[in-house]
Amino acid sequence: MTASGAKMTAKLILGKEVSAEIYGELRKRIEDLKSRGVTPGLAVVLVGDDPASQVYVRKKGEMCEELGMKSLIVRMPAETTQEELLAKVDELNNDPSIHGFLVQLPLPGHIDEDAVINAISPAKDVDCFHPSNVGRMLIGDPDFLPATPAGVQQMIVRSGIDTSGKHVVVVGRSNIVGKPMAAMMVQKGAGADSTVTVVHSRTRNLAEITSTADILIVAIGKPRFVTADMVKEGAVVIDVGTNRVDDPTHPKGSRLVGDVDFDAVKEKASYITPVPGGVGPMTICMLMANAVRAAEKVVG
Ligand code: GUN
Repeated sequence: MTASGAKMTAKLILGKEVSAEIYGELRKRIEDLKSRGVTPGLAVVLVGDDPASQVYVRKKGEMCEELGMKSLIVRMPAETTQEELLAKVDELNNDPSIHGFLVQLPLPGHIDEDAVINAISPAKDVDCFHPSNVGRMLIGDPDFLPATPAGVQQMIVRSGIDTSGKHVVVVGRSNIVGKPMAAMMVQKGAGADSTVTVVHSRTRNLAEITSTADILIVAIGKPRFVTADMVKEGAVVIDVGTNRVDDPTHPKGSRLVGDVDFDAVKEKASYITPVPGGVGPMTICMLMANAVRAAEKVVG
């Protein structure tokens, strides 16, 4: 309820709309690079045949081509040795037509993911997974920002939401979303300057803490984990979760839901991101932004 007693329904923040705005800006930067003789090139290495990874990798390649960038998809069999993968990383580190690349995770169990990430040249690490880039982000001097947290920040900023002095509660502490998200929102500057709390599976009084969030960012990987009683009236709620749940009424027998109980929470929040259609499209968009930035750094 609002102060007047009227029921509130949240405004939707849609990844398609926010990413369309950013793609418009990227197209101009790509044109500018091309006019200077440089076509930004992004490579994606896929080891094995994980079905979800295949979809992500295909989408990344398609978006590169749609933007007029060079796309290279390197498919390697599941039996690829660590040595062979490291040799491929080395080759891409030294390929001047490739400005940025990533190795799609997860990797087969016999490969040490950290060793692979550490072998990627930080200048081409468009995932922002290399410890050097993670450190630079933490000290507020980033070359790249990790794609999903950067996408969340863009959704907040481009919706005109002020973050300065606001209490941001991040639910989840993964290296890909929770930890970098918290690090970004606590930085000095526009779109940040927040007071940040991270809660996770071992947090005591989790609901008490989430109920104090002005901005609640949820990336815990549990379907509909955040219920309406855990959300403050008027909060901004960003749902990073994508969970497939059984649904016999759906043609596929299942459907995607977020980490937030959308139907109930949208009656309490001021802004909310749906799943699907919310944060999802932002990850590839910000990856493309990092690839363009990597090319711009080479041109100078
Ligand atoms: N697997 C799931 N998300 C990602 C991502 O953002 N980067 C990479 N390299 N692998 C992933």
